Amino acid sequence: MGTILIVDEDQALCAKLEALLEPQGHRVRVAASGVEGLEAAAGAPPDLAILAVKLPDVSGLDVFRALREAEPKLPAIFMTAHGTTEDAIQATKLGAFEYLLKPFDLQEMMNLVTQALDLGRFLRSPVALDQDAGHQGGDAIVGRSKVMQDLYKAIGRAAPTDATVLIRGESGTGKELVARAVYQHSLRAGKAFIVINCVAIPESLLESELFGYEKGAFTGAVSRHVGKIEQANGGTIFLDEIGDMPLSIQAKILRLLQEKKVERLGGLREIPVDVRIIAATNRDLEAAIREGRFREDLYYRLNVVALNMPPLRERPGDVELLADYFLSRFAQEMGVRDPGISTEARPLLAAYPWPGNVRELANAMEKCLIFSRGRSISPEDVAERVTGQRPRQTSPLGEIDEAIRDWARRALSQGGQNLLSQLNDHVERLIIAEALSLTDGNRSRAAKILGLSRPTLLARMDKYNLRTETQVKTS
Ligand SMILES: Nc1ncnc2c1ncn2[C@@H]1O[C@H](COP(=O)(O)OP(=O)(O)OP(=O)(O)O)[C@@H](O)[C@H]1O
Ligand SMILES: [Mg+2]
Repeated sequence: MGTILIVDEDQALCAKLEALLEPQGHRVRVAASGVEGLEAAAGAPPDLAILAVKLPDVSGLDVFRALREAEPKLPAIFMTAHGTTEDAIQATKLGAFEYLLKPFDLQEMMNLVTQALDLGRFLRSPVALDQDAGHQGGDAIVGRSKVMQDLYKAIGRAAPTDATVLIRGESGTGKELVARAVYQHSLRAGKAFIVINCVAIPESLLESELFGYEKGAFTGAVSRHVGKIEQANGGTIFLDEIGDMPLSIQAKILRLLQEKKVERLGGLREIPVDVRIIAATNRDLEAAIREGRFREDLYYRLNVVALNMPPLRERPGDVELLADYFLSRFAQEMGVRDPGISTEARPLLAAYPWPGNVRELANAMEKCLIFSRGRSISPEDVAERVTGQRPRQTSPLGEIDEAIRDWARRALSQGGQNLLSQLNDHVERLIIAEALSLTDGNRSRAAKILGLSRPTLLARMDKYNLRTETQVKTS
């Protein structure tokens, strides 16, 4: 039992929650705006706050910050209809207990309230930051699925610590995006963020890139070179594709993690450095360890916080959201109108397994946008430019739509008239000729499969000059 403050503009929702919570013995205070909420809290300090992220006056996150000043361990459950990454990360970072997407299950809310009030669980909530860095920069991470929501929370928890983070996941799942999000929400935001791609750089160069060298360390070392790790001092270094890092360099990175020092090639002394390491890989590191390609001790040092990127096929619900996001982003970049995705095309997008994950989806949307020439994205666009297959029988006529459209567009722009009857006649002639050829010119059978009476068929054959063309065997 406790005092619960609910702040949301949606009075119907507030009333529903109140009606469920009061009978359980909780004291409930309801407010419709941030200011009202803070006033209510001043009168009766709450044990739990249930806050909408979006309020008519100030943000729910700001209300939470203010409430936390009076009660630093106050748990909060956030509610939002929009569910942006930023909000979820910020809320978790501030120490929110949970973050629910509207519409939510009322029973789920009731369970969360019980858990949040339970001090034991609450004490495990993350440490609040003294001063919010307030970094909003960077690309949005799009996705409303449960796994992605959990990922945002994990980012919010990991970011403000200095812990080494290992991001794993298939190619194109957003590992680099997440590495940047961790950095942007860390205490080192605004300091150096240096990216090193371990596969893109040859082994000999990688070592000198990372650790630097002294003048004369090797032939060609004409002057001293400060390595990337030293350059990142005070900041963060992102070791991308670390699964491909050569063993000799792995040993040096391990040393960096253990002793926080680097030695330049040909150098005589060790230089202390303070860097946070974020690493990413799409490799199976456990297998690499078994095969002796990756050091087990380094693996444990890196794997302090593990963030696993779910493949897109495991969160089909996010596909449409991402597709809409990329389409509008590319349209904006190209300065064209966002054509939108047709209702018929949507299920095709969600059904495709996306082996290249989000990167493949982004590329596909770019192609669709270029080829759509302003039309909304059709199932044919998706079939041709995404799945590389014919549309799966959504319409057996789908494949000729494009040809007809092209023809009509050309004909109309050249002032063509009577297009409808022209096309009707053309199609009718083709189909009748096809039926006659299929039945070896048997008019009765042809009429039957075409669903016409025999006299009608004969009349059409006259109209289209098909009598002379067909070899009549029997009639
Ligand atoms: N959830 C997401 N929301 C928005 N954009 C995303 C998301 N995930 C990935 N992207 C975009 O998809 C592209 C690929 O992502 P990223 O480069 O982070 O993948 P990766 O996991 O590092 O892949 P690789 O292993 O091939 O390097 C980028 O353009 C990135 O911005
Ligand atoms: Mg990458």
